[in-house]
Amino acid sequence: MLTNDMLALWDRENFFHPSTHLAQHARGETPSRIITGGKGVWIEDRDGNRLLDAFAGLYCVNVGYGRTEIAEAIAEQARELAYYHAYVGHGTEASITLSKMILDRAPAGMSKVYFGLGGSDANETNVKLVWYYNNILGRPEKKKIISRWRGYHGSGLMTGSLTGLGLFHRKFDLPLSQVIHTEAPYYYRRADLSMSEADFVAHCAAELEALIEAEGADTIAAFIGEPALGTGGLVPPPAGYWRAIQEVLDRHDILLIADEVVTGFGRLGTMFGSDHYGMRPDIITIAKGLTSAYAPLSGSIVGDKVWQVLMRGTDETGPIGHGWTYSAHPIGAAAGIANLNVIDSLGLVSNAGETGAYFLAALRDRLGDHPNVGDIRGEGLLAAVEFVANRDARTFFDAGDKIGPKVATALLAEGVIGRAMPEGDIVGFAPPLCLTRAEADEIVDRMAKAVDTVF
Ligand SMILES: Cc1ncc(COP(=O)(O)O)c(C=O)c1O
Repeated sequence: MLTNDMLALWDRENFFHPSTHLAQHARGETPSRIITGGKGVWIEDRDGNRLLDAFAGLYCVNVGYGRTEIAEAIAEQARELAYYHAYVGHGTEASITLSKMILDRAPAGMSKVYFGLGGSDANETNVKLVWYYNNILGRPEKKKIISRWRGYHGSGLMTGSLTGLGLFHRKFDLPLSQVIHTEAPYYYRRADLSMSEADFVAHCAAELEALIEAEGADTIAAFIGEPALGTGGLVPPPAGYWRAIQEVLDRHDILLIADEVVTGFGRLGTMFGSDHYGMRPDIITIAKGLTSAYAPLSGSIVGDKVWQVLMRGTDETGPIGHGWTYSAHPIGAAAGIANLNVIDSLGLVSNAGETGAYFLAALRDRLGDHPNVGDIRGEGLLAAVEFVANRDARTFFDAGDKIGPKVATALLAEGVIGRAMPEGDIVGFAPPLCLTRAEADEIVDRMAKAVDTVF
């Protein structure tokens, strides 16, 4: 058996970790964390620590760890048929069944599912489909995509451009010129503190309108947004935001891509965030909760309006020139079917709504009066605590103080994994949707201790 020291050495010498300080890690200044197992909301590492994973990995292990029915579905699929491709009309029972299960759950107006592997590649697909759509409609100039500052849509070339966080642009020559950004729907961080929530919504819609006018509506193909901002700060939109945005998009014939990689399949207490906020998307991105990360699988759910044009396009120009070897991989599809069955049979969507409301109320009850807590917000099982230097004046800490990471580190020392979000002093929670009230209490207790430790 390998010792932990040996594995840590191999790790430093061989493994290029994503989203990691490469130099510190290679020098051994940051620890190698080696995870060995999990059950429900708990995971274990090789040092024997048992941790409550209040971020469900990267908000993806929605049914919790250790679900043997999903493991068995994967094993059975691998034994029977580990792989066949989906090109030229091929499929498997698993991929066809899962596409039907997704459409049965999807918001109104959706027509077909294209399967990829992760959220980034699904959004790359979406941009290509939108470009193809406008070319078939004879509008070759209508190609730009509007995204929001603080939106997160992946870290590829196009998707890293869509992502509205500087960390993902700097030194990578991003964003690409076809992507433009508009105001984040982040009421707590509004520039003008005198604005009401309704004023701020009107301001976001006016900013969008001004951007469209400046660029020309005939150059803009689509707007992409997460129903509730995720990695950019875990921010539910202000009331009426999506209605106001949708109205502007409709008026300028701009498609809406709802990026539901985090919110799809129950996280907000409804099957989709689009239903939750009354969005009418033309394309929906799904990943994470589709398989609860038991196997990699993503999807682009294409609405009727776009689908009709895609079909016309292939009548005009032949088969669509888009596909991956692993599109609709049978093992991912088998995991997806078993995962959606677990979500249904355990009632996890309604649990996310009910336990989420309980959790948010408990966080507010315990931390709401703390002088360095500026905002506690959430929806379903997505919640965040934002720290400020002065809550009355709403002044923020310097980024160099690293208050968010310090609280997350103190919380880890208490045995709970939260996530220090990349911009601002925000500690986020997105636990598995099977969280119980007792586990929610445990997170809140330990978070209160961590906050005490740091301040
Ligand atoms: C909303 C959203 N879209 C897209 C992605 C990218 O997904 P992936 O990391 O699977 O490429 C993420 C990942 O966190 C996400 O949160």
